[in-house]
Amino acid sequence: MKVIALSFGLAASLSLAALAKTSGLPIDQWIARQSPISIKSIEQNINPAGGAPGAVVASPAPSYPDYHFHWVRDGALAFLTVLNIYRAASDPSRQQQLRQNLLDYGYFSASVQTTTNQLGEPKFYLNGQPFTGPWCRPQNDGAALRAITLISFAKTLIINGETSLARANLVPVINNDLNFVKNVWNQPSCDLWEEVSGQHFYTLMVQRRALLDGAAWAEFFGQNASQLTSVAGQITTAILKHWSADKGYLVATLNRTGGLDYKTSNLDAAIILGILHGHTDDGFLSYTDPHVLATAKALLSVFATKFPINQVPGVRGVAIGRYPEDRYAGSNFNGGNPWVLLTAALSRYYYLASSEARKNGHPADAAAYKNQAEDLLLRLKHHAPDDGIWAEQIDRVTGFMTSAPNLTWSHSEVLEAFTARALAGPP
Ligand code: NOJ
Ligand code: NOJ
Repeated sequence: MKVIALSFGLAASLSLAALAKTSGLPIDQWIARQSPISIKSIEQNINPAGGAPGAVVASPAPSYPDYHFHWVRDGALAFLTVLNIYRAASDPSRQQQLRQNLLDYGYFSASVQTTTNQLGEPKFYLNGQPFTGPWCRPQNDGAALRAITLISFAKTLIINGETSLARANLVPVINNDLNFVKNVWNQPSCDLWEEVSGQHFYTLMVQRRALLDGAAWAEFFGQNASQLTSVAGQITTAILKHWSADKGYLVATLNRTGGLDYKTSNLDAAIILGILHGHTDDGFLSYTDPHVLATAKALLSVFATKFPINQVPGVRGVAIGRYPEDRYAGSNFNGGNPWVLLTAALSRYYYLASSEARKNGHPADAAAYKNQAEDLLLRLKHHAPDDGIWAEQIDRVTGFMTSAPNLTWSHSEVLEAFTARALAGPP
């Protein structure tokens, strides 16, 4: 008995020691440990205390009241990840709970649509009322992302034989968003970083995907989708104008109408987010497209020299920020930092590029992209907090978590990188 207690105690203290050394774990063990923490964190940020069911708080941290809101963008991205978790779940009671969360998100979305006739409203109080203080608005990516998530969820309901539920509760919300996107796509709006007004690559990419997903969806119901596809075609043309032959990368914003004017490079990790969140499997700007690869490379090289933590010898991979001129550090504007979600997104991008290259019969390229993806994930592991709770940013000097703690979007983007890694197969 004594021996058992002793060895049990030993095992417990050993696992505590292992817990404290997150960054030293082999990558597979780290992923196995981090995944459930990120899933749980997202679920805890859903249905926040005092909020409406289906709302998601961007960050619940008491020290960051500015993040105690439901952003349309963050919410849609979080629920896309929840949907993936739901599809992978096997336990019936767990499935039931995730399905309910997704349905609540659908009801919440329907309700916020009625609080404003302007579907470009970026953020809402957790009770579903629009935030009316000064803000960079409209943000026309949000409704597109919401449509993408809800269409995807509706498809799952239909596969599960719940077509009438999808029709009654999701179709009207989806149609409102698609109509909005169709009407506003060529008007200037505020970018996803809430800083610049103009025409943005990211916004156009997710708008295009929403309309194409919507067209496929409408056809499924026997409706005419030609208007949706024709607008998507116009958006395609607008997106291609973002290639700068001079600079050698895709640029974030064209036709700026206001907001920050110090983003002189126009090089932005939002391009990679646009490639990921706007992906439609139709071959347009696919992961191995030379324009996309060139932009990913430009981001790697600009941030490699930008942040002190990227110069520390012996650490693989590059921590990725928003754009080189960024100044936003969460609680001050003393200089931008690398972001968890962007380092994860670039890693995910390279895993997907690797899978695509392999599928297209280019094994050497596939290996090189996977190596790059792995480096980026190792970089993230290096800065991973021991409790697994990702903040928004990584301090560019100390390498510790900084800015809004427990950011929902950080967790979801990290989980998506893990999924892309699993799909890419063994190294
Ligand atoms: C808060 C926004 O969310 C952030 O992205 C931005 O950099 C600052 N406001 C400054 O506009
Ligand atoms: C600031 C980011 O710039 C913006 O994209 C995000 O929606 C908010 N934080 C909330 O996470």
